[in-house]
Amino acid sequence: MEKFVIEGGRPLYGEIKIQSAKNAVLPLLAASVLTDERVVIRACPRIADVLNMAQILAELGCKITFAGEDLYIDSADAANHEIPAALAKELRSSVFMLGSVLSRFGRARIAYPGGCDIGLRPIDLHLCGLRRLGVRIEEEGGYINCSCGRLIGADVQLDFPSVGATENIMLAAAKAEGTTVIRNAAKEPEIADLQDFLNRMGGRVSGGGTATVIVEGVRSLHGAEYTPLSDRIEAGTFLIASAMCGGELVLSNARAENVSALLDKLREISCKIHAVDDKIYIKSERRLSPKLVETSPYPGFPTDLQAPITALACICEGSTVVVENLFETRFKHVPELIRMGADITVRGRNAFVRGVPRLHGADVCAGDLRGGAALALAALSAEGASAVTDLRYIDRGYAQFEYKLRAVGARIRRVRI
Ligand code: EPZ
Repeated sequence: MEKFVIEGGRPLYGEIKIQSAKNAVLPLLAASVLTDERVVIRACPRIADVLNMAQILAELGCKITFAGEDLYIDSADAANHEIPAALAKELRSSVFMLGSVLSRFGRARIAYPGGCDIGLRPIDLHLCGLRRLGVRIEEEGGYINCSCGRLIGADVQLDFPSVGATENIMLAAAKAEGTTVIRNAAKEPEIADLQDFLNRMGGRVSGGGTATVIVEGVRSLHGAEYTPLSDRIEAGTFLIASAMCGGELVLSNARAENVSALLDKLREISCKIHAVDDKIYIKSERRLSPKLVETSPYPGFPTDLQAPITALACICEGSTVVVENLFETRFKHVPELIRMGADITVRGRNAFVRGVPRLHGADVCAGDLRGGAALALAALSAEGASAVTDLRYIDRGYAQFEYKLRAVGARIRRVRI
C-alpha cells in the first residue's frame, strides 16, 4: 500500500502538460481488436486502467508492446474470445470489449464488469444495443455469454446517452452488414475521438459528438497510428487545484472547449481564465461560492469533476449545492473532507456545502478515482500536513500525479506503508 504525504498551503506556479485521455484510450484499445494489422497509440498514458486493458488484450492473444510513450498492439494472432473475470472485475471499460470481440470472433464471454464503486453501473443499454445488432446473449452465474453470425446494422435508440454503450455499439457496428444509427448517443468528446480512430482504420462513422451517430459497416479495417485527445478530466482536476491553492498555472495540451462547463463555474468563483490554442491559463485569488453545481451528460458539468469541485466548494465564501445526477454513490469523498474540517450535509444525490476559510490537514482514505484526486487537492490547500492513502485509485487515471504537482510547487510525496 502507498500514501501521499502532503504539506498544504503552497500556491501553485508553473506549467503542466496534460496527458492523453484515459477515457479515450480505453475504447481505442478495444477497437484495435477489429483489425489483424498493427495499431499504434501515440502518447499513451501508463496508468493502471490502460495497463489492465492491455492485459485483457494480451489474454485475447494480442501482442502488446510499450516503446517510450507509444503503445503497439498487434492482434494478428488474437484467438481467445473470453475476457478473464479477474480483469473484467478490475476494469469497468472491459465491457466495451464485447462489441469488438463479437465483431472479430462471433462470440464473447465476460464476467460482469467492475470498476470504481460509484453506483450500480448496469450494462442493460450495452446489451440491448448489441441485441439490436443480432447478438444472442445469455447471462448465467455472473457471466455474460454472447454469440452472433455476422452482425447486422440496425437502428438503436438509447434510453440514456451512455458513453460506454455508445462506444460498444459503435465498435460492434464498424464491420456489421449495413448501417447502424445510434439515437440519443453520448456526445462526450471521447465519442468523436473513437469515430476519428475508426475512420483512420478505414471505417465510415459520422455524427460523433452529436446525439445521432451513424456507422456504415465495412468489410474490413486496417491498422492505424493515432494520438488520442487530451484528458479533459485531468485538465479540470489541475484547474481546480489552482483555484484551491492560488497562484498561476498554465495547462498545455489542453482543449478549453472540452472543459467549458467547468471554466464557466471557475469564472463564477472569480478565477481569471483565458485560453489560446492548446493552452489554458488560470490565476486564482478569491473564491466566491458557485451556488449550484449539477452534473449532467456532456456538454453539461462532468460527473468526473464533481468530487474535485465539491472539495473546492468547501473553501469558497458562501454555500454551494452539489447535485450528482449520474451515479448513485459518488459522495464517498465527503466523510473524508469532513475529517479535514469541511461543513457538508449529504441528502441523497445532493451535497449541501457551507464554505469555511480553510481546511486542516488529516489522514484520509481514497474510495474511488476522482474522490481520491479531490482529497489530494483538499490536502494541498489545507493548513498543515495530510496523508492520503489507497493510491491505487488515483493511479488508475492520473499518470505522474505527484510529479506534475511537485513541478509547480506542491509539497507532495509518495511513501510506501
Ligand atoms: C464513462 O463511464 C466514463 N468511463 C466514466 O468515467 C464517466 O463518469 C461516465 O462515462 C459518464 O461520463 C469511461 O469512459 C471508461 P455511462 P460509463 O454509461 O460508460 C447509466 C472516470 O472517473 N447506465 O455514460 O460507465 C449509468 O448507471 C470514469 O474516469 C445504465 O443505466 O458511464 C449511469 O447512471 C468514472 N445502463 C449513466 O448511465 C447502461 O447500460 C452514465 O453511465 C449503462 C449506463
